[in-house]
Amino acid sequence: MRPGHIQPKLIIHGGAGSSLRGKGGEESVRRSLFRTLEEVYGLLIAGASAETAVVRGCQLLEDEPRFNAGTGSVLQSDGQIRMSASLMSGSEQRFSGVINISRIKNPIDLALYLQDQSDRILSDHGAAELVRELKLPPHDPLTEIRLQEWIQERHGNFHREMAGVVAEKELLTEAGRGTVGVVALDNEGRIAAGTSTGGKGFERIGRVSDSATPAGNYATHHAGISCTGIGEDILDECLAARIVVRVTDGMALQDAFQRSFLESETNRRDLGAIGIDRTGAIAWGKTSEVLLAAYHTGEAMHDTLSLEETMVTGSHPSSHEQTNTKNVR
Ligand code: GLY
Repeated sequence: MRPGHIQPKLIIHGGAGSSLRGKGGEESVRRSLFRTLEEVYGLLIAGASAETAVVRGCQLLEDEPRFNAGTGSVLQSDGQIRMSASLMSGSEQRFSGVINISRIKNPIDLALYLQDQSDRILSDHGAAELVRELKLPPHDPLTEIRLQEWIQERHGNFHREMAGVVAEKELLTEAGRGTVGVVALDNEGRIAAGTSTGGKGFERIGRVSDSATPAGNYATHHAGISCTGIGEDILDECLAARIVVRVTDGMALQDAFQRSFLESETNRRDLGAIGIDRTGAIAWGKTSEVLLAAYHTGEAMHDTLSLEETMVTGSHPSSHEQTNTKNVR
């Protein structure tokens, strides 16, 4: 298809973790994901670039207090919030990001600013210095529910592996793996991927998340991937780059997901991922109980909230492929 005549595709996630079933969480999470999909897909239809769409999608998810990124981020072991975010342009094959930044509303904005700088990944003090230089207004991302979660954990001496995937009172006792991510294909055929997180929750000071590394967020001309789950597991699999490289080398997106998730399952990893390739195929996979993902095919919106199997991959074909409507295992 000629550039400008490609049907845009969009997939987003709000983390992965334990099931929301029967806890009143599923429907509100679905509504929230669909609201974001509708706004961001509207931008793509109006001609926005994949990069613009991904940044807007990440901003909306960062602003949604139920997800663990931006406002509503989890607290680290010392009671502070430190966030990480990255943006990868597939057409430029360029990665940028910030690691462990505090007191900012939208960490993805810094990743966008860094896209055309010579130093493209900043951490801690350097990232804070950039916030000052750009005169970004201070923002406290702390929510009452995340504070209560931390206080509860402090009484238990931080024994949980990770904070709740979504911040809902009735769900706080359920361990989860929050992060948000967006992957888009625009009408020029460009792909971009963005990922933003508050981290695992209750971690040591200085711990680095996968989200601002190519293990958690990666894209080329061929495909883009955003991951969620336990950062150490994602780094050990180098999951986003692993799937993208497989697609770039000629493997179909859904096969690359299937193979990579079988490996992750064998290695007992706890993670999930979403992706799009340049043919417009959309795919997702998880080894965790639930993956909070939703996608827009151009015709309809779908989500993965009620998939029950723990190891599952699935895909939606590109418009010009007529087979493989779903490949769930
Ligand atoms: N995937 C988010 C983190 O582990 O920090």
